[in-house]
Amino acid sequence: MKESFKAIKITDNVYWVGAIDWTIQDFHGYSTKRGTTYNAYLIVDDKITLIDTVKSKFKRELLARISSVVSPEKINYIISNHSEMDHSGCLPEVIKLVKPEKVFASKMGVKALTAHFPGNADIAEISPVENLGSLSLGKLTLKFIETKMLHWPDSMFTYIVEEKILFSQDAFGMHLASNNMFADEVEESVVYYETAKYYANILLPYSDRILKLLEQVKEMKLEFNFIATDHGPIWRKDFEKVFNWYLKWAEQKPEKRAVIVFDTMWGSTELMARAISEGIKSEGVSSIILHLAGNHRSDIATEVLCAGALIAGSPTINNKMFPTMADLFCYISGLKPKNLIGFAFGSYGWSGESIKQLEEELKNMDIEITGPGIKAKYVPDNEVLKECFNRGVEIAKKLKTQ
Ligand code: FEO
Repeated sequence: MKESFKAIKITDNVYWVGAIDWTIQDFHGYSTKRGTTYNAYLIVDDKITLIDTVKSKFKRELLARISSVVSPEKINYIISNHSEMDHSGCLPEVIKLVKPEKVFASKMGVKALTAHFPGNADIAEISPVENLGSLSLGKLTLKFIETKMLHWPDSMFTYIVEEKILFSQDAFGMHLASNNMFADEVEESVVYYETAKYYANILLPYSDRILKLLEQVKEMKLEFNFIATDHGPIWRKDFEKVFNWYLKWAEQKPEKRAVIVFDTMWGSTELMARAISEGIKSEGVSSIILHLAGNHRSDIATEVLCAGALIAGSPTINNKMFPTMADLFCYISGLKPKNLIGFAFGSYGWSGESIKQLEEELKNMDIEITGPGIKAKYVPDNEVLKECFNRGVEIAKKLKTQ
C-alpha cells in the first residue's frame, strides 16, 4: 500500500494526500456516476500540517500518500475544515496514530466533531480557532475564515497567506474521480456540469450565504494561486470563471428554459409532456423533458438550477401521485430553487388526485402557478393535447417577458 499510493506535489510546501473513490454511485441521495475524491493536503513547514482527512475506508490510502513525503508521526497539526464524515471519518484513528501536538477546527467544528465521535478523548481535545484568526507554521501563515452552512454550520476555509492557496472544503468542488489533479486538465463541459451539479444538490439552499461570501472574498482582496477543494480536481486558474458561475447560480436569475418532469403509467402523461414541450418550442424557447424512470433526482435538480419553469406531470395511482414524483419533490423542495413558474398535469382513470397533489408541491416551493392543472381521463384526446400545447405556448411567452 505504502509504495502504491503517492502524494502529488502542488507547490514545494504543499502536497495532495487524499483518496480517489472511483466506485461511489450514491452520495447521500446524490448520484455520483463519475465517482469522487476526498481531498486532504499536507503542508510541510516547521509545523507539518494535515488539512482534513478522508472517508474512513480510505484511511490506508491517505496514510500511504502522507508516508511518501514524511512519516505520519511527524505531523504536528491537523486542521479539520469540515466535520462531515467524508472528511473526518478517519480523524480519530489518524489522531491516535499521529499524536499531533494540536488539532484545530472552527468553534462549531469542535462541537460537531465531538457529537460525531462521542466519548473520544482525542476529539474532546480539539482546539477552536477564531474566525479570521491566524496560525504560524514557521515560514507559512494560515488564516481561517468561517463559512457557516457551506456546507454545514462548522465549515471553514483555511488560506495560506504566503502561497495564496485557499483550502475551500466543499465550496467550488465537484464529485469527479480523476487522475488529473487540476480542473483545467479535465474536459471543460464535464467540469462545468459537475460543478453545477454539486452546487444544485449541495449548496443551492445556502445561496444567500454564497453571495455574502463572494462579497467577503472580494473585500478581503484575497489572491489565489490555487483553490484546493475537498472534492474533485484543484483550481489553479479560471478563478473568476468559477466565481462567476457561483454568482449566477446563487442569484438564481431565471433563464428562458423550461424543465418538464414526469412519470407515466401507460404513456398518457408522457404524451401530454410532449405536447407541452411542442408548445414551448413553437415560441422558440428551450425545454427539456425528463422521465423519472431514466433520470436521477440529483440530475433533475441540476437541470432546474437557473431554469425559468418547472412543469410536473404524474398519473394517479391509488389516489396518489406516482411514488417517483413524491421522491423528487421531497428532495427538490429541500434545495429551495427560486424564481420558477409552472403547472401540473397528468392522466387519471377515475379520481385524478395526483394533479392537485403536484400543484400543492409546486405551490409549497413558491413556484408561481400559471394555470389550473391539466387532466386527461385515461388517454388525452386532441382537445386535451391542444390545451397542453397552448399552455406550453403560454409559459414560453411568460418566460420571454421575464
Ligand atoms: Fe464533502 Fe459536506 O462534505
